[in-house]
Amino acid sequence: NVLADYQGTAILEKRLSEKLGISRCIVLPGNADKQYRVVDSFGRRLNQLLGSVLPNGQSMISVTGGSTLAQVARNLSPDLSKNRKLVFLPARGGVGESVTIQANSVCAEMALRTQGQYRAMYLPEDISEKSFESLQKETSIKSVLELIYRSDVVIHSIGTASVMAERRNLSAKEQEIIDNGDAVSEAFGDFFDQSGKLVYKVPRIGLHVRDLDKIKYVVAIAGGQSKAKAIQSYMKNAPHHTILITDEGASKLILRDN
Ligand code: G3H
Repeated sequence: NVLADYQGTAILEKRLSEKLGISRCIVLPGNADKQYRVVDSFGRRLNQLLGSVLPNGQSMISVTGGSTLAQVARNLSPDLSKNRKLVFLPARGGVGESVTIQANSVCAEMALRTQGQYRAMYLPEDISEKSFESLQKETSIKSVLELIYRSDVVIHSIGTASVMAERRNLSAKEQEIIDNGDAVSEAFGDFFDQSGKLVYKVPRIGLHVRDLDKIKYVVAIAGGQSKAKAIQSYMKNAPHHTILITDEGASKLILRDN
């Protein structure tokens, strides 16, 4: 019964948005931990969502890295560029992370799939304050950074703290802070515990969670039961206008948890 299913999903999405304190959730069938194709469906749904909200003309879209968004990118399509000029930007530097999933690669793939344009920013994510100051003055970097802060859309994922701490090659000292602080989630280099408290911030170039308030469309994409706790933790800090694309696997666990 399609109508019953639709109403069931609409109720689930509404409850989830209320529980997470954000404006909208889109819940797709399945569990991304077990079914690889669920992440493809996130990508197709994102394509549809952007197609329905983006105006004609130019839009600047910043994207983060990670395996979810790398797969999402492959499901965008050229229809999105009809009457539009899309420019994809890396929301942060990416060197240090595996090339295939760094923000630069995700935004190049999105541009390729949609026949849009992209700008790259080849910078380490973790950088000393001194180098950051001098690098910011470099014209090629400065121009991309300025565009990022003026993005119309941000598309980001939410990571599990332990997985992200390992992937970001953090030092033993940083790892200890994250472990002792019981961090469960990571987004934009910020590690949060279950109550949403900031446990550790990787010094970095690019967008921060606080910058999201100024960006018109913020789309978070994360699914699978293994991401339920991370989603809940990060959403305590997310701007209210965040739209979450997730799956039944994560949603049901979040709604079950008191
Ligand atoms: O910041 C969050 C991570 O980019 C998420 O990575 O999609 O591989 O879990 P993932």
